[in-house]
Amino acid sequence: MNFITSLALIAVAYAILYVIALLFVDCDLRLAWAEKFGKPTDCLAGKVVWITGASSGIGEHISLALARAGVKLVLSARREHELERVKQNCLKIGKNLTEEDILILPMDMTAVENHSECFHQVISHFGQLDILVNNAGRSQRANWEDIDLAVDKEMFDLNVFGVLSLSRIAVKYFMKMKVGHIVVTSSLVGVNATPFPFSASYAGAKHALHGYFNALRSEKILSNINVTLLCPGPVFSNFLAESFTDRPGEKFGKAVQPTDRRMSVERCGHLCAVAIANKLNEAWISLLPYIPLCYIFVYYPNIGDHMMRLLGPNFFLKIRDTQVKMETKTE
Ligand SMILES: NC(=O)c1ccc[n+]([C@@H]2O[C@H](COP(=O)([O-])OP(=O)(O)OC[C@H]3O[C@@H](n4cnc5c(N)ncnc54)[C@H](OP(=O)(O)O)[C@@H]3O)[C@@H](O)[C@H]2O)c1
Repeated sequence: MNFITSLALIAVAYAILYVIALLFVDCDLRLAWAEKFGKPTDCLAGKVVWITGASSGIGEHISLALARAGVKLVLSARREHELERVKQNCLKIGKNLTEEDILILPMDMTAVENHSECFHQVISHFGQLDILVNNAGRSQRANWEDIDLAVDKEMFDLNVFGVLSLSRIAVKYFMKMKVGHIVVTSSLVGVNATPFPFSASYAGAKHALHGYFNALRSEKILSNINVTLLCPGPVFSNFLAESFTDRPGEKFGKAVQPTDRRMSVERCGHLCAVAIANKLNEAWISLLPYIPLCYIFVYYPNIGDHMMRLLGPNFFLKIRDTQVKMETKTE
């Protein structure tokens, strides 16, 4: 066998193994590797991590996973009583954590004028901040053409401008400290050209986060400031009921169903914690078939386009929301 044939065979074997491996993981292969062979979440013990959207769902379970690893926490969201519940659960399982090690800091992410004051409260309580996890956010269910522009603005106020405002304050602080880590909960919806119809403002907002935070990473690449974009696919949280619609001020109001193809929040929270501990640039987290689909849509967009035409938008909606019906308008 000549050299070229051997190289070709190795390339084909690699591609086949890659595809097979994707059928056995619930995240991208870099994260799967980090979970098995990378740094354990315990390496974050003693660090101070601020998590927004910590009162439920993914944020709550990132908080629990980090508490288990001995991380000191700042828990933020609007519902103080839910934050108190999460704090008590973190204390129950937390490694060497006392009352003082978990600060509850109620805040509305859209009230950007209060962000500096909130930041100062964190520093005056702990004397430091090591990692900011921007997790608060809301999704959407709506037909593209029906969305009131006011909804796009509400969506960006929460999912983009709130995140930018808090992160800019943190990045300035991290630059003074010469070290720091910004984490953002994006979504597979934010990954280039992925097939998630009926969430246009949400997709736009999550794509915007990728633009802003990839730019930040590239500017700080020579410093000790890291940027991690967490990209979960569908997860069993309360987010569907909380989702924006096409009308301002409205919530979608429907609960996720047990039949939906979604990951548990516990597993998602754990994988997010692994991605943070290993300072991954981007982490895709989801059950089948979303991760292989994402690989296809990102690396083989023409095949993805054909699949979309063949299967139609409702196919992609149905695999995540089995009980949700959206009208597919063609004219
Ligand atoms: N679940 C999924 O399938 C999925 C998939 C991909 C990405 N994500 C992302 O994951 C993140 C968390 O969502 P989730 O699924 O865990 O949903 P969730 O259970 O509804 O959690 C959303 C969190 O955001 C907080 N929040 C909402 N509006 C806020 C505001 N104005 N100010 C401060 N906090 C606010 C909520 O707390 P309060 O109501 O107490 O303020 C809550 O803690 C979001 O960024 C979402 O886009 C979710």
